[in-house]
Amino acid sequence: MNRRHFLASASALAILPVATFAAQKPIRLKAQAVTQQILPSGDNATAMLGFNGSIPGPELRLRAGASVSIDVENQLDEGTSVHWHGIRLENSMDGVPMLTQDIINPSHTKTYSFVPPDEGTYWYHSHYISQEQVARGMMGALIVEDDTPPDVDHDITVLLSDWLMQEDGSLVDDYVDMHSVAHGGYMGNFARGFLSQSQVKRGDRVRFRLINAATNRIFPISITGATGYVVALDGMALPAPRSLEGLVLAPAQRADLIVDISEAVGFDMVTRQGSYRLADLEVKGINVVRQAGPILALSPPDLPLPSDPTQHLTLTMMGGAMGGRHKGDNIWALNDVSDLQPDPFGSFLRGETARITLVNDTAFPHGMHLHGHHFYEIGDDGALGDLRDTTLVNAGDTRDIVCVFDNPGRWLLHCHMLSHAIGGMRTWVDVA
Ligand code: C2O
Ligand code: CU
Repeated sequence: MNRRHFLASASALAILPVATFAAQKPIRLKAQAVTQQILPSGDNATAMLGFNGSIPGPELRLRAGASVSIDVENQLDEGTSVHWHGIRLENSMDGVPMLTQDIINPSHTKTYSFVPPDEGTYWYHSHYISQEQVARGMMGALIVEDDTPPDVDHDITVLLSDWLMQEDGSLVDDYVDMHSVAHGGYMGNFARGFLSQSQVKRGDRVRFRLINAATNRIFPISITGATGYVVALDGMALPAPRSLEGLVLAPAQRADLIVDISEAVGFDMVTRQGSYRLADLEVKGINVVRQAGPILALSPPDLPLPSDPTQHLTLTMMGGAMGGRHKGDNIWALNDVSDLQPDPFGSFLRGETARITLVNDTAFPHGMHLHGHHFYEIGDDGALGDLRDTTLVNAGDTRDIVCVFDNPGRWLLHCHMLSHAIGGMRTWVDVA
């Protein structure tokens, strides 16, 4: 691949298919081979894996508190499973082979039923050989709609990813290259965003739901043509709108923004070489009705408040290239142990509050994801910070999190740089 695609911006961007299931009707997701135009039109389409004929898969729109059932039909010639990332659901529906279910074999169907408890922006993705299946396209947006939506003219999903492409538009078929696993992970040479809508008016107020669906790439984001605030992270409303300045999304992280449109909107990844256009939103016409009042916070999440932690555990990320040392038997380790072991890293009684110190003793950043729960990031002042399901810990940094382990079951805790996860950086916790 030459630098042309990597540095050029992709302007003719396809639109995400949106599936709305008003009465929370059963949903059918067919995992299948898909050929999709990922590169700008004029270049070749790409043979990938997706759901219901597209990449990303259909955007699922659910209602909080209402049960849903989703049939995942495996039309691939290999196994699969689907994880509903960020949803605090029943353990048996979490989609993790070996821990919560058997893999879905080719030409088999598994029904996932759950009640999404929290409004917000989530996503779904393969959780079986996911460093490869997600890289090939098996992911989509999962939106839990607000009871009382904010006052906006449009609600637009912006799903970001990257791929390692050959000049002819085919994917480079190597997802476990040991060099990349030991460094920053599989990294695309082409990145873009998929928008659920391609046009707005000047003067519109818009909610953007940004989702980083890339397997390993961290996206530092800057937005032109619009001004506004971040109103939610990882699905959870912030207590007050926050500046867009310095917005960074680690793999699997989401951010909801509310902005006012002044001109054509560009979503850029900020790199040391300059900015790289991920997506464009066209502006046509003027919204003459909208009275731009202040941008308000979304309704606050309804999660149990932490009590004084009864356990304080430390999880040290170890390994990788550039001096990482540990006693595990894979490239990466957590507390000197690689990969899933029979014993959990932590055991909690249902409802117990615990504090975990995440120590990054490696030369690379890691986005650590806990299944089935959201946790608080603890600020430097020791106060409860943002509620997240994935936290980015930079090389050499330490971050404390506090979590109310109120969801019984066996839950993964792993790096969401999927190359690092397959390279050993995974463990699990048990909530009795
Ligand atoms: Cu988004 Cu273990 O996954
Ligand atoms: Cu990692």
